[in-house]
Amino acid sequence: MQKNVVLLPGDGVGPEVTAQAVKVMEVVAKRFGHQFNYQTFDFGGASIDKHGVPLTEECLDACKKSDSVLLGAVGGPKWDKVEPLIRPEKGLLKLRKELNLFANIRPTKLFPQIRDACPLKDEIIEKGIDFTVIRELTGGAYFGEKRRYAGPHDERTAVDEIKYDENEIARIGKVAFETAKLRRNILCSVDKANVLETSRLWREVMHEMKGQYPEVQYSDMYVDNAAMQIIRNPSAFDVIVTENMFGDILSDEASTLAGSLGMMPSASLSDTKLGMYEPIHGSAPDIAGQNKVNPLATILSSAMMMRYSFDMPKEADTVEWAVNSVLDNGYRTADIQGKSNKAVTCSDMGDLVREAIR
Ligand code: IPM
Ligand code: MG
Repeated sequence: MQKNVVLLPGDGVGPEVTAQAVKVMEVVAKRFGHQFNYQTFDFGGASIDKHGVPLTEECLDACKKSDSVLLGAVGGPKWDKVEPLIRPEKGLLKLRKELNLFANIRPTKLFPQIRDACPLKDEIIEKGIDFTVIRELTGGAYFGEKRRYAGPHDERTAVDEIKYDENEIARIGKVAFETAKLRRNILCSVDKANVLETSRLWREVMHEMKGQYPEVQYSDMYVDNAAMQIIRNPSAFDVIVTENMFGDILSDEASTLAGSLGMMPSASLSDTKLGMYEPIHGSAPDIAGQNKVNPLATILSSAMMMRYSFDMPKEADTVEWAVNSVLDNGYRTADIQGKSNKAVTCSDMGDLVREAIR
């Protein structure tokens, strides 16, 4: 099969991790007889520097026409002071909105080989850490109206609106129920229905849907409690579905359970096959350019691309198997370093995964 992939390496460590994922995609293409064509664009801060905006029209257009997008990371202190409307993050949000990527899938899994990197007690880890956060990605506070005004005493005042309509909730609900069916049939919907009206509507819609999925064991949980239960009792979770900002926060929290942000891939999906795939870590400016970053999250993201956008489950399994085998052999980047392991660089790690596949 031929697939067209847009590469957005972005900022900081983004280009380093993207390069390793491409290496792995190339060996998969060779082994399975596919052809992946790549088109690379500046994105985020790198695009601001060159073109004055974080996402050019040309880039957006190429993404829309592609079969999928692989993204490294965006942002960094260099662009913290630029005007909010053209911040690097704004490019990412625009891309999510324009491509209608409303479903963000963030699997949280602790590979047993790196259990030392997980800060929880053994008795909790032993029960297993393997759940998926499904985060609504194109609504809520991220995309509501934002404004500043002077209050009655001339005090600076700001408003971020949180808005959801029932259709936005139902379509992410459907992804969540369907995902639960493919996993262990347990779905927890996370909200703040004791306080927020949007959460009350969220809960209402989820309850209207759950009858259609009798095999799924459904529950609701307030977000503050969920933040606690994820740490106290992670094995209780299978699929978590939640709104945009709660999902942002809970998925970073969850990543500590996976040992490192460097192990967490993600997929952002629409109602077509076009998706965007990215590691959940940021641009990590402190280690950028040092060949130290863990590329596995991006490599695992490329496996998700094969699975969800390209209908290539065998290829995806092969990449995941290869990552497992490299970890089995004791190779570790700095973020997941245990005591007696073999320390490797970012590009070594990419080579090892490639060799395992070859
Ligand atoms: C993420 C990131 C982004 C978000 C930032 C970079 C805008 O934290 O993908 O989780 O908040 O969605
Ligand atoms: Mg985040």
